[in-house]
Amino acid sequence: MKTIAVIGAGTMGNGIAHTFAQSGFVVKLIDVSEKSLDKGMATIAANLERMLAKGTITQEDVAKTITNIITYTDIKDGVVGADLVVEAATENVELKLNIFKQLNEACSHNTILATNTSSISITQIGSVVAHPERVIGMHFMNPVPIMKLVEIIRGYNTSDEVTKITMDLSEKLGKVPVEVNDYPGFVANRILMPMLNEAIETLYNKVAGVYEIDTVMKLGMGHPMGPLQLADFIGLDVCLAILNVMYEGFKNPKYAPCPLLVNMVRAGKLGVKSGEGFYDYSESKKAEKISKQFKI
Ligand SMILES: NC(=O)c1ccc[n+]([C@@H]2O[C@H](COP(=O)([O-])OP(=O)(O)OC[C@H]3O[C@@H](n4cnc5c(N)ncnc54)[C@H](O)[C@@H]3O)[C@@H](O)[C@H]2O)c1
Repeated sequence: MKTIAVIGAGTMGNGIAHTFAQSGFVVKLIDVSEKSLDKGMATIAANLERMLAKGTITQEDVAKTITNIITYTDIKDGVVGADLVVEAATENVELKLNIFKQLNEACSHNTILATNTSSISITQIGSVVAHPERVIGMHFMNPVPIMKLVEIIRGYNTSDEVTKITMDLSEKLGKVPVEVNDYPGFVANRILMPMLNEAIETLYNKVAGVYEIDTVMKLGMGHPMGPLQLADFIGLDVCLAILNVMYEGFKNPKYAPCPLLVNMVRAGKLGVKSGEGFYDYSESKKAEKISKQFKI
């Protein structure tokens, strides 16, 4: 494996591109939006500079990582010659099915087609391509350059060979891959999202305030970040979408999103990315909070 195409240059896509490029792979970073590509490349450069300042990488590593990344706005141009495609576009079923239909046309039959989806069925995504045995979930965690886990999700048709290649590749990135099966929320979000939803429900029921709820979980349970702040970092719209997938997928009311979460998303309060969620992330405070939390 030498060449990796990453689709989507947002929060996850730029982190995935950064991680592969830093490990010596040629990365073709694709986004429909030129602005997202520029922003993604600027984020990668800023994160590399922070790592350089900390002494975890050299100036040469910074230069190599940046030169390993080429940007594209056209999916077909971008995926030519890729050994692996990691799709990290917006979490939307129709959008992802459409991208995989295009990949089915544009990629060689040997290309492994991975998706970073948080909650959409790998089996459903695989159903729109001619070789579903080559479709797999590669669920990186945010921030990708720092977090060790990659949840590797086998769809119903994913082959043993593709699973092994993807697991080995994750190790080459310095990550720890964990293999799981394809059911709503997989493992990470099946356990995490009900906890975040319960924290929001606790706030909604006025049991305690934002500070109190997060402090109980940080100091009492040893969590590095409180659940409400974590929800802000993930994006409240993303949390809502994942809970809805689990609610529909299991037909179980225990996954029903809290009305407060639904209302906040409707009001455009999406967390860090919109500048406000359970906390205020106005420009002056944002950089400080992010650099402290991410410890890059
Ligand atoms: N945010 C997280 O913490 C997190 C964690 C793990 C997994 N994920 C998953 O990663 C994926 C991306 O999430 P994100 O938070 O990076 O989203 P984001 O909104 O930050 O970025 C999505 C990017 O996809 C681009 N895009 C949309 N349609 C496209 C298309 N047809 N072709 C190419 N690019 C397209 C957008 O322009 C945008 O730049 C989602 O599937 C999400 O569920 C997110």
